[in-house]
Amino acid sequence: MTDVHRDAVIGFYDRHPINEDEILAKLLAAGIDPKHLDVETLARFDQDHYGGTAAVDELASRAGIVAGAHVLDVCSGMGGPARWLAHRYGCRVTGLDLTRSRVEAAQRLTARVGLDTLVDFVEGDATAMPLPDAGFDAVVGQEAWVHVPDKAALIRECARVVRPGGTIAFTDIVARVPLQPSEQQRLYDEMSYAPLGLADEYLALLESQGCEIVYLEDLSDVWTRLLVERLQMYRSLRDTTVAKFGQQHFESWDRGYAFFVGLYVEGRLGGTRIVARRR
Ligand SMILES: C[S@@+](CC[C@H](N)C(=O)[O-])C[C@H]1O[C@@H](n2cnc3c(N)ncnc32)[C@H](O)[C@@H]1O
Repeated sequence: MTDVHRDAVIGFYDRHPINEDEILAKLLAAGIDPKHLDVETLARFDQDHYGGTAAVDELASRAGIVAGAHVLDVCSGMGGPARWLAHRYGCRVTGLDLTRSRVEAAQRLTARVGLDTLVDFVEGDATAMPLPDAGFDAVVGQEAWVHVPDKAALIRECARVVRPGGTIAFTDIVARVPLQPSEQQRLYDEMSYAPLGLADEYLALLESQGCEIVYLEDLSDVWTRLLVERLQMYRSLRDTTVAKFGQQHFESWDRGYAFFVGLYVEGRLGGTRIVARRR
């Protein structure tokens, strides 16, 4: 990954409308004391993917995650899915993320709900993971790998760190048709997305790394509906986003997100859920 792209991703997440302060403000607004927080309550606010904890459960069940397993969440953000998996399934979870502010927020939020003995976070790049070979029973990811330009290196690393027989299970944003260079450029400039390929690209990479595809689902229609709602949700965060990052940042975020959601509505972007097993 180039330094320019790394800085773009980190800058994007350092100024993301869903952030630790915004979560704490929402909790207070809902009359919840953040000092006495449980994971189920926090999970209503801390999931930065589509479909909330139900989507985490769906992925976990497809991946066969069970108590005692060690799961790696690649691009773990503020740790919402990692905490949920540990809480719900009694597994250990390590989250890996490039953005230090996300890793630190994840650690603080996890300590708040007393899950820090089961869940830890590591700062690092998904294409060069600072993690041992075959150390995990499952590798998961949600709506994040879209940022990674070198998908071959990403999948190679996932296959390296999962044990033989373990699963790689993820959902991600993909193109439904080849995108125009101008569309790719806008998604890069405004969302820090790497050039988007079709879901088939992931399937070929997984197979080339000795993995067998065990499940594939097209989420495009479901996500289109969710994303139209999500645009409204970000618009409802206008006041906290403006207060934290300024009016200009809110407006450029809104333009970028509306363009992104428009590509779903036009049938150009979609979503995929893929589960593969390392042979
Ligand atoms: C949309 S958030 C997803 C967070 C999490 N999956 C969730 O559902 O709450 C995407 C995350 O990917 C991380 N990320 C992007 N590129 C990365 C890379 N190359 N290596 C590790 N993390 C990366 C970002 O820092 C960000 O925290």
